[in-house]
Amino acid sequence: MKLMNVIGKQMQYPRGIFGKILFAWMTRMTIEHARWTVDLMEIQPDDDIIEIGFGNGANIKLLLQRARNGSVTGVEISETAIEMASKKNAKAISEGRVKLYEAAGNALPFEAGVYDKACTVATAYVIEDPGAVFKEMYRVLKPHGRAAVTFPVRENFIRFKPVGTEGFYLHELADLKKAFRDAGFVNCRTEDNDQVRFGAHCMLGEKPTIS
Ligand SMILES: C[S@@+](CC[C@H](N)C(=O)[O-])C[C@H]1O[C@@H](n2cnc3c(N)ncnc32)[C@H](O)[C@@H]1O
Repeated sequence: MKLMNVIGKQMQYPRGIFGKILFAWMTRMTIEHARWTVDLMEIQPDDDIIEIGFGNGANIKLLLQRARNGSVTGVEISETAIEMASKKNAKAISEGRVKLYEAAGNALPFEAGVYDKACTVATAYVIEDPGAVFKEMYRVLKPHGRAAVTFPVRENFIRFKPVGTEGFYLHELADLKKAFRDAGFVNCRTEDNDQVRFGAHCMLGEKPTIS
Protein backbone atom coordinates (compact mmCIF):
# COMPACT_ATOMS: atom_id res chain seq x y z
CA MET A 1 0.00 0.00 0.00
CA LYS A 2 1.33 3.45 -0.83
CA LEU A 3 2.41 5.64 2.13
CA MET A 4 -0.38 8.17 1.45
CA ASN A 5 -2.97 5.38 1.58
CA VAL A 6 -1.53 4.08 4.85
CA ILE A 7 -1.75 7.59 6.33
CA GLY A 8 -5.28 8.04 4.96
CA LYS A 9 -6.50 4.74 6.44
CA GLN A 10 -4.87 5.51 9.79
CA MET A 11 -6.58 8.93 9.88
CA GLN A 12 -9.93 7.15 9.51
CA TYR A 13 -9.24 4.43 12.05
CA PRO A 14 -5.88 4.67 13.88
CA ARG A 15 -4.41 1.29 14.86
CA GLY A 16 -1.22 0.01 16.45
CA ILE A 17 2.16 1.69 16.58
CA PHE A 18 1.70 3.53 13.28
CA GLY A 19 -1.61 4.85 14.59
CA LYS A 20 0.18 6.24 17.65
CA ILE A 21 2.82 7.96 15.51
CA LEU A 22 0.11 9.37 13.29
CA PHE A 23 -1.83 10.76 16.26
CA ALA A 24 1.22 12.69 17.43
CA TRP A 25 1.44 14.29 13.99
CA MET A 26 -2.31 14.67 13.46
CA THR A 27 -2.90 16.37 16.81
CA ARG A 28 -0.43 19.08 15.80
CA MET A 29 -2.83 19.85 12.93
CA THR A 30 -6.09 19.54 14.86
CA ILE A 31 -5.28 20.94 18.30
CA GLU A 32 -5.94 24.51 17.16
CA HIS A 33 -9.30 23.34 15.76
CA ALA A 34 -10.00 21.84 19.19
CA ARG A 35 -8.95 24.98 21.10
CA TRP A 36 -11.19 27.11 18.90
CA THR A 37 -14.10 24.69 19.36
CA VAL A 38 -13.70 24.75 23.15
CA ASP A 39 -13.75 28.58 23.04
CA LEU A 40 -17.02 28.52 21.08
CA MET A 41 -18.79 25.99 23.30
CA GLU A 42 -19.51 28.36 26.23
CA ILE A 43 -18.56 25.61 28.66
CA GLN A 44 -19.73 26.10 32.25
CA PRO A 45 -17.75 24.79 35.26
CA ASP A 46 -20.36 22.09 36.07
CA ASP A 47 -20.94 20.87 32.52
CA ASP A 48 -21.04 17.20 31.66
CA ILE A 49 -19.63 16.94 28.14
CA ILE A 50 -19.49 14.18 25.55
CA GLU A 51 -16.87 14.08 22.78
CA ILE A 52 -17.21 11.74 19.79
CA GLY A 53 -14.02 10.51 18.10
CA PHE A 54 -11.58 11.95 20.67
CA GLY A 55 -8.42 10.63 18.98
CA ASN A 56 -5.46 10.69 21.38
CA GLY A 57 -7.49 12.54 24.02
CA ALA A 58 -5.79 15.95 23.78
CA ASN A 59 -9.13 17.71 23.40
CA ILE A 60 -10.50 15.94 26.48
CA LYS A 61 -7.89 17.77 28.57
CA LEU A 62 -8.95 21.12 27.10
CA LEU A 63 -12.63 20.41 27.78
CA LEU A 64 -11.90 19.39 31.34
CA GLN A 65 -9.97 22.60 32.05
CA ARG A 66 -13.20 24.53 31.37
CA ALA A 67 -15.61 22.03 33.00
CA ARG A 68 -13.54 22.07 36.17
CA ASN A 69 -16.32 20.63 38.36
CA GLY A 70 -17.91 18.62 35.57
CA SER A 71 -17.00 15.58 33.50
CA VAL A 72 -16.03 14.46 30.01
CA THR A 73 -17.26 11.25 28.41
CA GLY A 74 -15.39 10.15 25.30
CA VAL A 75 -16.48 7.72 22.61
CA GLU A 76 -14.14 6.16 20.05
CA ILE A 77 -14.10 3.21 17.66
CA SER A 78 -10.28 2.90 17.80
CA GLU A 79 -8.71 0.84 20.58
CA THR A 80 -5.41 2.63 19.95
CA ALA A 81 -7.11 5.98 20.54
CA ILE A 82 -8.63 4.71 23.79
CA GLU A 83 -5.24 3.43 24.96
CA MET A 84 -3.54 6.77 24.23
CA ALA A 85 -6.34 8.92 25.67
CA SER A 86 -6.42 6.74 28.80
CA LYS A 87 -2.74 7.46 29.43
CA LYS A 88 -3.09 11.16 28.67
CA ASN A 89 -6.06 11.53 31.03
CA ALA A 90 -5.08 8.92 33.66
CA LYS A 91 -5.48 11.24 36.65
CA ALA A 92 -8.92 12.51 35.63
CA ILE A 93 -10.02 8.93 34.88
CA SER A 94 -8.91 7.81 38.33
CA GLU A 95 -10.92 10.71 39.82
CA GLY A 96 -14.00 9.63 37.84
CA ARG A 97 -14.08 12.89 35.85
CA VAL A 98 -13.30 11.25 32.49
CA LYS A 99 -14.91 8.09 31.15
CA LEU A 100 -13.92 6.54 27.83
CA TYR A 101 -15.99 4.05 25.82
CA GLU A 102 -15.39 1.98 22.72
CA ALA A 103 -18.49 2.74 20.67
CA ALA A 104 -19.55 4.36 17.41
CA GLY A 105 -20.88 7.89 17.35
CA ASN A 106 -24.06 6.75 15.62
CA ALA A 107 -24.93 4.25 18.39
CA LEU A 108 -24.12 5.90 21.71
CA PRO A 109 -24.51 3.54 24.68
CA PHE A 110 -26.13 6.23 26.85
CA GLU A 111 -29.59 7.29 27.94
CA ALA A 112 -31.24 10.31 26.38
CA GLY A 113 -30.89 13.76 27.91
CA VAL A 114 -27.81 13.41 30.12
CA TYR A 115 -25.15 15.81 28.74
CA ASP A 116 -24.87 19.60 28.77
CA LYS A 117 -22.53 19.82 25.79
CA ALA A 118 -21.56 17.51 22.90
CA CYS A 119 -18.74 17.96 20.43
CA THR A 120 -16.76 16.30 17.70
CA VAL A 121 -13.62 17.62 15.99
CA ALA A 122 -12.12 16.50 12.67
CA THR A 123 -14.37 13.46 12.29
CA ALA A 124 -17.01 14.58 9.75
CA TYR A 125 -15.02 13.45 6.70
CA VAL A 126 -14.22 9.98 8.06
CA ILE A 127 -17.85 9.15 8.82
CA GLU A 128 -20.11 8.07 5.98
CA ASP A 129 -23.33 9.24 7.61
CA PRO A 130 -22.50 12.14 9.97
CA GLY A 131 -26.25 12.90 10.23
CA ALA A 132 -26.66 9.67 12.22
CA VAL A 133 -23.99 10.91 14.65
CA PHE A 134 -25.62 14.35 14.93
CA LYS A 135 -28.94 12.63 15.81
CA GLU A 136 -27.23 10.69 18.58
CA MET A 137 -25.53 13.85 19.89
CA TYR A 138 -28.96 15.49 19.95
CA ARG A 139 -30.57 12.51 21.73
CA VAL A 140 -28.06 12.39 24.59
CA LEU A 141 -28.12 16.17 25.20
CA LYS A 142 -30.31 17.71 27.87
CA PRO A 143 -32.89 20.29 26.76
CA HIS A 144 -30.91 23.53 26.16
CA GLY A 145 -27.79 21.40 25.69
CA ARG A 146 -25.43 22.62 22.98
CA ALA A 147 -23.49 20.83 20.25
CA ALA A 148 -20.34 21.81 18.34
CA VAL A 149 -19.12 20.06 15.20
CA THR A 150 -15.77 21.26 13.80
CA PHE A 151 -14.16 20.14 10.55
CA PRO A 152 -11.64 21.46 8.00
CA VAL A 153 -12.72 23.50 4.99
CA ARG A 154 -13.48 20.91 2.29
CA GLU A 155 -11.88 22.82 -0.60
CA ASN A 156 -8.55 23.03 1.28
CA PHE A 157 -8.66 19.57 2.85
CA ILE A 158 -9.36 17.90 -0.48
CA ARG A 159 -5.85 18.93 -1.64
CA PHE A 160 -4.24 17.05 1.27
CA LYS A 161 -2.88 13.92 -0.42
CA PRO A 162 -3.93 11.19 2.10
CA VAL A 163 -7.53 12.32 1.62
CA GLY A 164 -7.46 10.63 -1.79
CA THR A 165 -7.62 7.30 0.08
CA GLU A 166 -10.80 5.28 -0.16
CA GLY A 167 -12.96 5.74 2.93
CA PHE A 168 -12.99 9.54 3.15
CA TYR A 169 -16.39 11.13 2.72
CA LEU A 170 -15.90 14.70 1.59
CA HIS A 171 -19.35 15.98 2.48
CA GLU A 172 -20.33 19.40 1.20
CA LEU A 173 -20.77 22.10 3.85
CA ALA A 174 -24.42 22.59 2.83
CA ASP A 175 -25.13 18.87 3.35
CA LEU A 176 -23.49 18.89 6.78
CA LYS A 177 -25.47 21.97 7.79
CA LYS A 178 -28.70 20.33 6.63
CA ALA A 179 -27.92 17.07 8.46
CA PHE A 180 -27.21 19.09 11.63
CA ARG A 181 -30.52 20.96 11.40
CA ASP A 182 -32.39 17.76 10.48
CA ALA A 183 -31.04 16.15 13.66
CA GLY A 184 -33.24 18.66 15.49
CA PHE A 185 -30.83 21.42 16.52
CA VAL A 186 -32.17 24.96 16.66
CA ASN A 187 -30.51 28.39 16.76
CA CYS A 188 -27.91 26.89 14.43
CA ARG A 189 -24.99 28.95 13.22
CA THR A 190 -21.67 28.17 11.55
CA GLU A 191 -18.47 29.96 12.54
CA ASP A 192 -15.46 30.05 10.21
CA ASN A 193 -11.78 30.20 11.07
CA ASP A 194 -9.06 30.84 8.49
CA GLN A 195 -6.26 30.95 11.09
CA VAL A 196 -6.01 27.15 11.53
CA ARG A 197 -4.55 24.48 9.22
CA PHE A 198 -6.90 23.96 6.22
CA GLY A 199 -9.26 26.56 7.70
CA ALA A 200 -12.24 25.24 9.65
CA HIS A 201 -15.97 25.47 10.13
CA CYS A 202 -17.73 24.93 13.44
CA MET A 203 -21.46 24.20 13.38
CA LEU A 204 -23.16 25.17 16.65
CA GLY A 205 -26.70 24.40 17.72
CA GLU A 206 -28.96 23.87 20.67
CA LYS A 207 -31.50 21.25 21.68
CA PRO A 208 -34.83 22.97 22.32
CA THR A 209 -36.69 22.62 25.61
CA ILE A 210 -39.56 20.71 23.98
CA SER A 211 -38.36 18.30 21.26
C1 LIG B 1 -9.05 12.46 11.98
S1 LIG B 1 -9.19 11.69 13.57
C2 LIG B 1 -9.54 13.07 14.64
C3 LIG B 1 -9.23 12.77 16.08
C4 LIG B 1 -9.42 13.93 17.06
N1 LIG B 1 -10.80 14.31 17.18
C5 LIG B 1 -8.58 15.12 16.68
O1 LIG B 1 -9.13 16.21 16.51
O2 LIG B 1 -7.34 14.99 16.58
C6 LIG B 1 -10.77 10.90 13.42
C7 LIG B 1 -11.12 10.04 14.64
O3 LIG B 1 -12.48 9.64 14.55
C8 LIG B 1 -12.59 8.31 14.99
N2 LIG B 1 -13.83 7.77 14.40
C9 LIG B 1 -14.04 7.46 13.10
N3 LIG B 1 -15.30 7.03 12.91
C10 LIG B 1 -15.90 7.08 14.14
C11 LIG B 1 -17.22 6.76 14.61
N4 LIG B 1 -18.16 6.31 13.77
N5 LIG B 1 -17.50 6.95 15.92
C12 LIG B 1 -16.54 7.41 16.78
N6 LIG B 1 -15.28 7.72 16.39
C13 LIG B 1 -14.97 7.56 15.09
C14 LIG B 1 -11.31 7.64 14.50
O4 LIG B 1 -11.01 6.46 15.21
C15 LIG B 1 -10.30 8.75 14.72
O5 LIG B 1 -9.68 8.67 15.99
